[in-house]
Amino acid sequence: MKTDSTQVVIIGGGPSGLLLSQLLHRAGVETLVLERQSRAHVLGRIRAGVLETGLVGLLRKAGVSARMDQQGAVHHGFHIAHQGRLDRIDLDARTDGQSVMVYGQTEVTRDLYDARDRMGGVVLHGVEDVRLCNLTNGQPHVLFRHAGAAHRVDATFIVGADGFHGVSRKSIPEGVLREYEKLYPFGWLGVLSETRPVQSELIYARHDRGFALCSMRNPKLSRYYIQVPLSERADAWSDAAFWEELRRRLPEGVADQIETGPSIEKSIAPLRSFVAEPMRYGALFLAGDAAHIVPPTGAKGLNLAASDIHYLHQGLIDYFLQNDSTGLDGYSERALARVWKAERFSWWMTCLLHQFPDMSPADLRLQQAELDYLFSSDAAQTVLAENYVGLPY
Ligand code: APR
Ligand code: PHB
Repeated sequence: MKTDSTQVVIIGGGPSGLLLSQLLHRAGVETLVLERQSRAHVLGRIRAGVLETGLVGLLRKAGVSARMDQQGAVHHGFHIAHQGRLDRIDLDARTDGQSVMVYGQTEVTRDLYDARDRMGGVVLHGVEDVRLCNLTNGQPHVLFRHAGAAHRVDATFIVGADGFHGVSRKSIPEGVLREYEKLYPFGWLGVLSETRPVQSELIYARHDRGFALCSMRNPKLSRYYIQVPLSERADAWSDAAFWEELRRRLPEGVADQIETGPSIEKSIAPLRSFVAEPMRYGALFLAGDAAHIVPPTGAKGLNLAASDIHYLHQGLIDYFLQNDSTGLDGYSERALARVWKAERFSWWMTCLLHQFPDMSPADLRLQQAELDYLFSSDAAQTVLAENYVGLPY
């Protein structure tokens, strides 16, 4: 058994774990990141790409914003397509000048890995059998296997940034952990194609046939989604069938502008709302998808991870540099307050735009009335806009 020690062990080398490691390293706090997959596998994941102002600020603070500033696009609004027309949500006007940055999560993760390399940050890939030990009795440590050898790392704190399927949340005893979950009766079939995005801003579409979303990664890389039943399989959808269904869900003036092309990625993601409480247990702190999942409709997944990391990195720095544990003691309550508001918004936007199998004619009319009210009320659009750009940390 090889033993070592560090100040903070971070389980998970996704965006949450990497961003926290980078911010702590720059403040002089030592970390070790343990990642199950290879770097190539992590960077092969296709995820959303709408960054809130708060996340953009954290990436700047972490020193990883150069490529985002060059290749990202600042978006000052987005559109909702309904009843055959496009209505725009003016983020600038509704939020006193706030906007969002469109820049793929994969690129954020790549920038974080590059920054970790430049700083000599330690990220171990191919880690197996991670076990969290002694979380509440004074000698927290992590056991794991790496490169065929057994390891033990003692740490002051352990951060579970290992996603929804990770080991960290499951290390909190059943009598302590509370889980809240809402499953949606449909998924999103997503396609990535090397085509010109149909519009310069995102289009969220409500249609009787189901939800659709027109997004992008850059001026030559489009990302489209259509709502599909959970029984669907991605490989059962030809590209032609996808493009045809997408067009049917968009206003004519938009559908006939769609540039089609071969899909370079095609997958179905289920939709779920999930929150685990508390986000701290002894020396263990949960962050990102390890603690919560949102339906992708509001593009809050990575942005919620960011606010967790904002609170947690400050609390850890205060502890190690000022011997002040106030931030850590208040982390779970503070993070969860923002998590639940984002869960509410993501649930609301999902209900606004998707067709649910059990919707009655009355439900359909009420859903349309919600949209009619939205676009007849400055106040309603302000509520949507302030949640979309991100509530304050
Ligand atoms: N040991 C080590 N690493 C693990 C383990 C484990 N037992 N279990 C999972 N991991 C790794 C995964 O391989 C993954 O790389 O933890 C990482 C968790 O990363 P994400 O799932 O991307 O979660 P997070 O970093 O919180 O990022 C949240 O990702 O899923 C999207 O929508 C979500 O945009 C949001 C973002
Ligand atoms: C994406 O570009 O993948 C995307 C954009 C906005 C969303 C969800 C996904 O709400």
